[in-house]
Amino acid sequence: MSYTVEPVIKNSCSSIGEGPHWDAASQSLFYVDIKRGDVHKWNSLTKEDSKMHFDYPTVSIIVPCAEGGYVIGTTHSLSHLETWGSEKLTVWAEMEQGMPTQINDGKCDARGRLWSGTMGKELSPGIVAPELGALYSLDTKRILKKHVDKINISNGMDWTSDNKTMFFIDSTVRKVYAFDYDLESGSLSNQRTAVDFGEGTEPQLGLPDGMTMDTENKIWIACYNAGKVVCFDSETGKLLREVKIPASRTTSVAWGGANLDDLYVTSCRHGFSEEQLQTTEALSGSVFKITGLGAKGRQANNFQG
Ligand code: BGC
Ligand code: CA
Repeated sequence: MSYTVEPVIKNSCSSIGEGPHWDAASQSLFYVDIKRGDVHKWNSLTKEDSKMHFDYPTVSIIVPCAEGGYVIGTTHSLSHLETWGSEKLTVWAEMEQGMPTQINDGKCDARGRLWSGTMGKELSPGIVAPELGALYSLDTKRILKKHVDKINISNGMDWTSDNKTMFFIDSTVRKVYAFDYDLESGSLSNQRTAVDFGEGTEPQLGLPDGMTMDTENKIWIACYNAGKVVCFDSETGKLLREVKIPASRTTSVAWGGANLDDLYVTSCRHGFSEEQLQTTEALSGSVFKITGLGAKGRQANNFQG
């Protein structure tokens, strides 16, 4: 299967591009620029990239709400933005106030609960104080619950098509965990390792960052520090495919496009030298689109609360 990789939104993030969410209703890609505190909306039909700024140290999640507006994940809170451009945030839930942590990735399950994880503040790109993070859910009554703690860098997550298994990445230990998932109650059990990047593979695979699943339950992972997206079998844990991306800190992935068969990839621009930014990392901070993979995803869930 031949595919192409194209920077569709060039250099739109100056810090850490992240949190891509495809909105089928508007055929737009939402994503964030974490340390700048910006959320972006890129309309794939007009190619217009609009953004909004929030005055927080970090902004890492934007997910549309079924009843209007968006949930925005800032450093320590999950808040509601009424309309694009309104700038007014209403706090729905707060976590880890006063701790040297921040919310990182998040995604809604099939019932529209928002799952989000935290990480220790970065000491340098990809390096954090250990085990300060946790994984939470915000249910549709907006009640926050902690499910897993002692996480280093909470990152990508997704569910199998039957919603019986949830996957969740801790980047620092370079593992994708699997849990049995009870969709009715929104609870996790039976934690095990589904994919282990393994010792000695750091030069090839870097750190597992954001992830998404395709309709065949294969796991697609952005490799931070390795400039690629990889596909793993969620049952055997075997590496199936690798796609090189011309930006070394690839951070997350989301299916998009009219048929949900284009894979959008965000990337990070911060932490490189001026020389790198002018040469090997010139495209870092762009959003890339991979076309022709021969795989497709499911529509992203909105928040139902
Ligand atoms: C975080 C970055 C971190 C990276 C490591 C990202 O999701 O936002 O701050 O460096 O993961 O993989
Ligand atoms: Ca991420």
